[in-house]
Amino acid sequence: MKVKKAVIPAAGFGTRMLPAAKSVPKEMICIAGKPAIHYIVKEAVDAGIEDILIITSRGKTAIEDYFDYSPELEMRLERSGKLELIEELHAIADMANITFIRQKELKGLGHAVMHARSFTGDEPFAVLLGDDIMRSETPVTKQLVEQAEKYSCSCVGVKKVETSEISKYCSLGVKALGDGLFDVQELIEKPTPDKVLSNYAILGRYVLTSGIYDLLENAKPGFGGEIQLTDALNLLCRKERMLALEFEGERFDSGNICGYMEASIQLALANPEISDWLKNYMKGLDI
Ligand code: UTP
Repeated sequence: MKVKKAVIPAAGFGTRMLPAAKSVPKEMICIAGKPAIHYIVKEAVDAGIEDILIITSRGKTAIEDYFDYSPELEMRLERSGKLELIEELHAIADMANITFIRQKELKGLGHAVMHARSFTGDEPFAVLLGDDIMRSETPVTKQLVEQAEKYSCSCVGVKKVETSEISKYCSLGVKALGDGLFDVQELIEKPTPDKVLSNYAILGRYVLTSGIYDLLENAKPGFGGEIQLTDALNLLCRKERMLALEFEGERFDSGNICGYMEASIQLALANPEISDWLKNYMKGLDI
């Protein structure tokens, strides 16, 4: 099994980032000089994936524009001799083969993923949520792809979260295999305290087989009245093997204001062009 394609669902309303997300897609909100989705596409590319489908919705054409050429802007930059900047902008547009599809009705993450069927066909594919940004030695998607390819099955990226937090995530029933790898036996979306299976939660990264599609097409609305990817995964792990990998790295949920602030600070600290300035600035704050 070889994973050559990635799907980035980025159609959601982003209500936790209102009012900013009213007219700017939350995936385009700037984090240390680049829009959030830049980091996500880069992670897929760094995992060796070149064909990427981004699922968008009304009001999100800024995402398409970001990954396109911009001849008028380039002409202006050329006139002012900013040739390096032109190269940088071109490199963004040439980062991968990116196609877009619109989710016309926002019926949930599972519904969004269904839109990838004609793009992936029967091939396995990576899913990277459009607002979860990772910082890791090895790209998190690469870590999952390696396990999925080794065992020829789906593999989801997990971390342990606080008991007080698990009801915001999907909780997994797992059997440990060693080295951070688990067999997934059961999943539940946003469990009430009595339904929690474990403190392991999926944090924004998946490698899935095409077996997910039939399950999604037959899925009934679940938590919050949405078609939940978790509900289809809960069926898939009973039909075929599914692994969970406790990945190395840190995850920031840039879709809420605190996660966005964390991502901004951490990625700025990791950027040699701004880290010294930021450290000095913070040292000088009277807090
Ligand atoms: P979230 O729940 O984090 O995104 O969905 P949201 O719905 O935009 O956020 P809030 O809760 O309103 O603030 C996880 C991922 O699934 C995508 C989102 O864009 C995000 O990347 N998504 C969600 C879709 O693509 N379509 C949907 O119908 C729902």
